[in-house]
Amino acid sequence: MINYQHIQVEQFEKIGTIRLNRPKVLNALNRKMVHEIVNAFIEMDQDDDVKVIVLFGNGKAFAAGADIGEMAQNDAVDLELLNQFADWDHLALIKKPIIGAVHGFALGGGFELALVCDLLFAAEDAKFGFPEINLAVMPGAGGTQRLTKLMGKTKALEWLWSGEMMSVEEAVRFGIINKIFPKELVVEETIKYAKKLAEKPALSVRFIKEAVNKAIDYSLYEGMQYERKNFSLLFSSEDQKEGMRAFLEKRKPEFKGR
Ligand code: HXC
Repeated sequence: MINYQHIQVEQFEKIGTIRLNRPKVLNALNRKMVHEIVNAFIEMDQDDDVKVIVLFGNGKAFAAGADIGEMAQNDAVDLELLNQFADWDHLALIKKPIIGAVHGFALGGGFELALVCDLLFAAEDAKFGFPEINLAVMPGAGGTQRLTKLMGKTKALEWLWSGEMMSVEEAVRFGIINKIFPKELVVEETIKYAKKLAEKPALSVRFIKEAVNKAIDYSLYEGMQYERKNFSLLFSSEDQKEGMRAFLEKRKPEFKGR
């Protein structure tokens, strides 16, 4: 695996881990760091040995937002010419499951990065929010869109306009996170979960992720057509043959991920 400046990447069996690593500034995301995160995701997405990707932060926080010192130097033309959001667009194209383990602050761009994850596990001390309004800006990497799709318009506006932080209990209630763990266990428990998911037939995992994401954008009819195509497509995989044969022969299947 490549050496990065602002993140650490590792692999444990079939699990690729990405740790945000600018702890002195609560993992504030500068552009180089976002570029590294995206590159690490792409690298793991293409690595046959990695089945599930786990994302978490070093130090006191997951990530306290985009790097305000860096952003403060830009005007609108800089932002347009930098095209920094192209990096964020890549994150939506990752095919493998991404599980976030959040502790401490997940704010602004840090919350947006958490919302890119397919599943989110959080420590009891995690706090989620979009404080951009207090800087007289707004989320720019999908925050208004993803939050609204998860919790609905009126609740999303309440959080985005107040800039306040949401507790883990609220985050569970609004469907933002899946599970809460004691702080010292959250990464361990997330990796344990990821290991179980990594044993499932990889093409089913992948197509289920794609179909669920389509449910967010498509009408029910279009989504069902999409689902059906992928259902049929799985019947040309070796794992489908093995899965059904193993059931009929009353034995455990051995999946190959193809
Ligand atoms: C740059 C940051 C930072 C950030 C924290 N730090 N957040 N630096 N950008 N987003 C730095 C602080 O300046 C400080 O550095 C160090 O991290 C520790 O932070 P403290 O403020 O001392 O910690 P604490 O008192 O515990 O307060 C934590 C906090 C506060 C409530 C999270 O740091 C905070 O409000 N941070 C900003 C949160 C925010 O507004 N995020 C949204 C950014 S806009 P020094 O050198 O003083 O020790 C955004 C837009 C996204 O994300 C657009 C798409 C990419």
